[in-house]
Amino acid sequence: MPEFAALTVLTDEVFGTVSPRLYGHFAEHLGRCCYDGIWVGRGSPIPNWNGFRLDVLNALKAMPTPLLRWPGGCYADHYHWRDGIGPSRPVRLGMSCGLQVEDDNGLGTHEFLDYCKQIGAEAYLAGNMGSGSVQEMCDWLEYCNASVQTELVKERTSNGHAEPYGVKLWGVGNENWGCGGHYDADSYGLEYRRYATMLQHVDPNAELVTCGHNKEWNERLMDKLRHHAFLVDHFSIHRYWVTGGSGTAFSDEQYYKLLREADETEDFVKETRAIIQDAVGDKKKIGIALDEWGVWHPEVRQWGEDAVGGDLNNYEQACTLRDALAACAAFEGFHRQADSLSMANIAQIVNVLQAPIRTEGDAMWLTPNYHVFAMHEPHLGAQAVRVLVEGGLSLPDGSPAVTATATTKDSRKAVTVMNRHLHEGATVRIPVEGSAKLLASDRASDENGPDSPDRVVLREVGLTPDGNGWVLELPPHSVATIA
Ligand code: AHR
Repeated sequence: MPEFAALTVLTDEVFGTVSPRLYGHFAEHLGRCCYDGIWVGRGSPIPNWNGFRLDVLNALKAMPTPLLRWPGGCYADHYHWRDGIGPSRPVRLGMSCGLQVEDDNGLGTHEFLDYCKQIGAEAYLAGNMGSGSVQEMCDWLEYCNASVQTELVKERTSNGHAEPYGVKLWGVGNENWGCGGHYDADSYGLEYRRYATMLQHVDPNAELVTCGHNKEWNERLMDKLRHHAFLVDHFSIHRYWVTGGSGTAFSDEQYYKLLREADETEDFVKETRAIIQDAVGDKKKIGIALDEWGVWHPEVRQWGEDAVGGDLNNYEQACTLRDALAACAAFEGFHRQADSLSMANIAQIVNVLQAPIRTEGDAMWLTPNYHVFAMHEPHLGAQAVRVLVEGGLSLPDGSPAVTATATTKDSRKAVTVMNRHLHEGATVRIPVEGSAKLLASDRASDENGPDSPDRVVLREVGLTPDGNGWVLELPPHSVATIA
């Protein structure tokens, strides 16, 4: 076996197009994600655009943010959209995941949709099934998208937006097997049919998302929907990775466990695809919406492996290089499943869980998660193709240390290659000429902070020709994109 890992990009073996929606995000009114994270209000001393902090807004413009889901999460099933329109906004209890916050509704529908336009994101609204009604969700859809001069459209116009917003993606509830009402799959399925029927009457172009869960739930739900596939455009599943131990003080074994768990997300997508296929065959293409994913460390959990969570710290956790590598592992799977996965949204966009951006007062910094989104930018909208990796290092379990994903667009190729080995560097031969953007740091547990915002950042590195291709030296626990 050669000591280096040699990559071959098999341009004829196409997985599918990498929809920009696979690089989506999620903003929930949870802890300091929306309030404080993206929204500070128009009167804030923190520089802002219409109430949205400018530093975060500019950072989001510079990172792929093609899709943004809002307002929850569990929060969605308490949210009444009328509270967030017009001049007078009532203060309500903001409730999600055991946290209660005072919610002044300053950030409502118009603010959110205008923000999406500013940052170049498509909006995805999650409707309230838990404490709302079919009529309430239909009204929200009509308010946002209708052009007939109804009372709701006149109201939208008087609130400053005569043009329909044209929001395509609508979630019918969230985690309705749990926080969204503790339904069973059969009753949720029936209820979904009622909601989706009425929503389609209001806007036949809306893309509706039904709420999946685990294998058993998904099979039962698809059974309920098998003759109503025309009511479903996307099938939502969530996957949080919880087996990697502490956010920063993890063992070698836990480091590898987290990456494996991230890899297994692909198996979950495949399993879900098979269930959908089995129920509806080719009658209807239903995309899988992995609309919450990411690392959830035990320090901010009261459930699952190693949970510590006494004080949940607003679900603000360490965001290290290891977490960013786990995201890269997941992206490899997303590309391979490009044909069945219709969207994916990391949880969450600012401050909460696996956040690309963190804030504290008027300070803002980018986490390693931000940089992996930025370095994957060349893959968006490109064709995902198979990459062969031959030779090179192995991990303690015998699997290859070097893994890669590749895409082609017109005549250009982009390759993202990881060295998953925690302690050893890897030499990689790559059939693509160019320079590499490398994300590396001394320790996999390194992270950025307000006083050290540039500890883990992207660096440009050169490739060396060796007669058969170009050679890149990848440090331990690192990742690079060559485009
Ligand atoms: O992302 C945090 C929470 O996790 C969401 O509100 C919920 O949908 C999931 O359980």
